[in-house]
Amino acid sequence: MKIFVAGASGVIGRILLPKLVEAGHEVTGMTRRKEQGQAIEELGAKAVIADAFNLKQMVNIISENQPDVVIHQLTALSQGSSAENARIRMEGTRNLVNAARQANVKKIIAQSISWAYEPGDEPAMEEVALDVHAPLPRSTTISGIAALESAVTEIPDYVILRYGTLYGPSTWYDKNGATAGQVRNHELTATDGVSSFIHVEDAANAAFLALAWPTGTYNIVDDEPAKGIDWLPVYADILNAPSPELQLGAGGWERGALNTKVKNVCGWNLHYPTWRTGFLEALR
Ligand SMILES: NC(=O)c1ccc[n+]([C@@H]2O[C@H](COP(=O)([O-])OP(=O)(O)OC[C@H]3O[C@@H](n4cnc5c(N)ncnc54)[C@H](OP(=O)(O)O)[C@@H]3O)[C@@H](O)[C@H]2O)c1
Repeated sequence: MKIFVAGASGVIGRILLPKLVEAGHEVTGMTRRKEQGQAIEELGAKAVIADAFNLKQMVNIISENQPDVVIHQLTALSQGSSAENARIRMEGTRNLVNAARQANVKKIIAQSISWAYEPGDEPAMEEVALDVHAPLPRSTTISGIAALESAVTEIPDYVILRYGTLYGPSTWYDKNGATAGQVRNHELTATDGVSSFIHVEDAANAAFLALAWPTGTYNIVDDEPAKGIDWLPVYADILNAPSPELQLGAGGWERGALNTKVKNVCGWNLHYPTWRTGFLEALR
């Protein structure tokens, strides 16, 4: 198949590209940066330099490319700005979907998140509504996710991957990542808030396998949603960092998510079924 990956140079894209190439697909990867274009070509894909905020450019490259499938892994998280990230989700996705529609693309696979659900006591299944009534600053993220997911459904066959919190190589949770730094500096407090994690390798693999998955929205999370008071001390210990302060309570939306649907409908299997062993392997 001809596959166009937007976000090919990102933390997931870099793992995804070789999987697609090895499976025999004709892969094009998009980046704004020349040096990343070279890295994309070294992974066996063709690189195109374009900016997702430039609609004309997007229309031109996708209509020239004529892909069977577009994979959307665009985020703007390197600078840590949720407003910039919401902008790429809204405007970047809008442009990508418009360009894909003009080129008659039949399938799209898109990155979303699994912590955008409305508050509740239990980890969320996919039918739980997005938290569209959340106050600022959370509403910035939710608006971005709602716009992204809605735009993506305009393509006839769509797969929305609601990823848990990424850990593993080159993520914020890697040895030299931002979260590891905060934990070493004793800046994070462990609360009752529940997170669902996903190893970046499993996240990339889900995007690869989703080529064959039916249209739908799937939580891509591990098997063990965990309270901060459970996972953070374990993570700190593996890093040889000081134990975090513990604090009761959590925001209602910090509920984690379940992967039952993707396992039942798509037969998905994880290489890293729980953060307990996954953290150890990723950080040793
Ligand atoms: N679910 C999660 O928890 C989650 C998900 C994703 C990322 N993260 C975290 O975020 C950190 C940074 O992620 P990242 O390394 O993937 O970087 P990033 O800065 O978020 O960029 C991701 C991809 O989007 C592309 N991109 C961004 N804006 C673009 C635009 N206007 N036009 C075209 N392409 C654009 C980038 O291409 P360029 O080469 O042009 O920059 C890159 O390929 C990671 O370390 C990870 O821990 C977490």
